[in-house]
Amino acid sequence: MSDKTPKIAVTVTEIAEITPLIKRFRFEPCEAGLALPTFSGGAHVVVEMQDEGVLRRNPYSLMSTPLDCASYTISVRRDELGRGGSMFMHGKVREGSKLLISHPVNLFPVDHRARKNLLFAGGIGITPFIAMMAQLAAESLPFELHYSVRSFEHGAYVEELARLYGHRIHIYCDDKGEAIPLNRLIGNQPLGTHLYVCGPAGMIEWVLSTARSLGWPEQALHHERFLAPATGAPYDITLALSGKTVHVLPQQSMLEAIESAGVDAPYMCRGGACGQCECRVLELDGTLLHNDHYLTAEERASGTKVMPCVSRFEGRTLVLEL
Ligand code: FES
Repeated sequence: MSDKTPKIAVTVTEIAEITPLIKRFRFEPCEAGLALPTFSGGAHVVVEMQDEGVLRRNPYSLMSTPLDCASYTISVRRDELGRGGSMFMHGKVREGSKLLISHPVNLFPVDHRARKNLLFAGGIGITPFIAMMAQLAAESLPFELHYSVRSFEHGAYVEELARLYGHRIHIYCDDKGEAIPLNRLIGNQPLGTHLYVCGPAGMIEWVLSTARSLGWPEQALHHERFLAPATGAPYDITLALSGKTVHVLPQQSMLEAIESAGVDAPYMCRGGACGQCECRVLELDGTLLHNDHYLTAEERASGTKVMPCVSRFEGRTLVLEL
C-alpha cells in the first residue's frame, strides 16, 4: 500500500474506556449498507489522523471477530511520551468522527498447519489475539492464551476473555508477583504445536529465545512486533528520482516526511516489521540509525538499504532512490 492506495472512509460509532489507559473504538463504513472488507485474525489496519496539519498514520490490530464485517474495532493505549497518534485518538476523536483507514493486512495470521495454538500476550499485545481466538473458536481449533498484565485493573478484556473461553485463558498479574511459567509451558507441548507472541519487545525476546533453546522449529514460532518510529535530531534527505530535498522533523519518521513532500512511498506495517518500505541508499555521508527488525546485520552494515518507516539518519548527506 502507499499514499495512493484507496482508503476506506469510516465513522467512529462507539468509544469505550476499557482501562485507565486503553480505549476501544468501533468503526463503521460511512456509506450505509456497505460491508467492510473481510479479514483474518491477526490483521491490522492503518488509521489516518489529520492532526492540525500533520498527517499521522498508525497501525492498529483489528480485534473484532473476523466473522462480522459490519464494523471493525481497535484498541488504543494512551502513550503520553509517544509521537502523538495515541493522544490524538484519545483526545480528539469522538463518536461521529470520520476517519480514513487502510484495507486490512495480516502479517500475523493463524498457521493452519498447527495442531495446537499456544498464545502469549503482554499488555496491549492482547489485541490481535482477540480476533485470532474468535477465529480459532469458530473453526474449532485448539488454543490456549497466557496473558501477562500489569494488574487486574490494567488488564484489558481479562473478564470478557475468561467468560468467553473459560479454562483456555490464563491471566498473570505483575502486581501479585505472578509470571508466565514459560519453561514448563513451552517444554510440555504436543508435537505440532505453534507458538504466537505479541507484547513488549523484552517479552517477545524471552518467549522466542526460550522456545529456540528448547529446540522448537523456526516455522512454529510466530510473533508480531511493530515498533514506534524513533524520534531524534532533525535532518535532511535527498530523493534522487523525484528531485526533492526533504526535511525530517524530530517527531516525524523519514516515511512521514517523504509523504508530506508529496512523494508516494510504499508501506504496510509502518513499524519496521514487514519490509515493504525498504529503500535503496544511493549516497551516504553519515550514520543510518536502523530501528527496524527486518534488515539483516550484513544489510545494515552495508549502508545500502534503509527502512524509512522507523529509521533515522545522522550526518551530512543521505540520498535515497525515491
Ligand atoms: S512499512 Fe513495514 S517495515 Fe516499513
